[in-house]
Amino acid sequence: MLFVLYLIVGFLLSFAKCTTIKGKLDLPFVNISNFSISRTYFSLYQIGNYSTNEPYYKKTGLQDSDGNFEFSNLPINSGINETTHFVLYSTSLDFNLKPNRILIEFKELENGTITSKAFKNFFGREYFPSNDIIHPEHLEAIEMEPYITISEVNMAPYRSYFQVRNVGILQSGPLASILNSRWKSAAVLSVILLAIFPFLVEKFDPETTKAMKQEALAKKRKNISILHR
Ligand SMILES: *[C@@H]1O[C@H](CO)[C@@H](O)[C@H](O)[C@H]1NC(C)=O
Ligand SMILES: *[C@@H]1O[C@H](CO)[C@@H](O)[C@H](O)[C@H]1NC(C)=O
Ligand SMILES: *[C@@H]1O[C@H](CO)[C@@H](O)[C@H](O)[C@H]1NC(C)=O
Ligand SMILES: *[C@@H]1O[C@H](CO)[C@@H](O)[C@H](O)[C@H]1NC(C)=O
Ligand SMILES: *[C@@H]1O[C@H](CO)[C@@H](O)[C@H](O)[C@H]1NC(C)=O
Ligand SMILES: *[C@@H]1O[C@H](CO)[C@@H](O)[C@H](O)[C@H]1NC(C)=O
Repeated sequence: MLFVLYLIVGFLLSFAKCTTIKGKLDLPFVNISNFSISRTYFSLYQIGNYSTNEPYYKKTGLQDSDGNFEFSNLPINSGINETTHFVLYSTSLDFNLKPNRILIEFKELENGTITSKAFKNFFGREYFPSNDIIHPEHLEAIEMEPYITISEVNMAPYRSYFQVRNVGILQSGPLASILNSRWKSAAVLSVILLAIFPFLVEKFDPETTKAMKQEALAKKRKNISILHR
């Protein structure tokens, strides 16, 4: 009797565990303040097949200053070998988070066990492995147990949300972008120099220019005289 109860409880526990996504915002050098707790969100979207009326969507925040968050009681498509996919997005006003898009796959095995896998997406890519994509993008699997780790993009500065207005054209705009980049400045300077070089030579060294012109003329004459010979 006790054994049966144990089995049922165990089954329920494993079921509950499997249809929960746990995550943790892991910022080793930052104390997560109440301020950033209120400005950090995790959104979970169900994609692909769904068995409920509408695909699942939920947005949640951090539960505590340790950075924990979770989505529980997820609707899983039932049936042997049935898969359910979710996409987890992370957004924060204070941090640039990575991976910012994670594909999570649940699959029901023949013995009723539900397995879960998570894959991180690369920045700027929407693709994920699916039967209806001929060449699925290879996604890198990431650890899901005990939780999915979300961290800060390395060396990302705090975003600045204000912009100084009425700055001069040398500080902002296309001209500033040229002046602020050594390569662009060098390229522009070279083009200018190439264009004005003949004029410069003529201006500063009229003798040489005269000599060069005369030499060219002499060559031409020579050619003509060769032709006429
Ligand atoms: C975070 O806060 C705790 C206690 O308030 C402090 O002991 C710790 O040094 C802080 N860590 C950082 C990285 O600021
Ligand atoms: C955050 O808020 C909770 C309750 O709202 C408070 O107990 C805690 O001290 C606050 N933490 C910080 C770092 O301000
Ligand atoms: C959705 O379900 C249909 C029918 O059950 C199946 O053929 C199809 O492969 C499923 N699509 C995905 C993305 O799992
Ligand atoms: C489920 O998948 C396994 C491994 O891919 C396969 O051996 C099995 O036949 C599948 N079962 C059903 C009912 O499709
Ligand atoms: C179900 O099968 C998988 C592999 O096929 C195995 O890892 C898992 O332990 C099994 N679960 C149970 C409850 O038998
Ligand atoms: C003189 O003729 C040679 C070949 O006959 C030619 O290569 C050269 O460009 C000509 N020079 C001038 C100034 O026309």
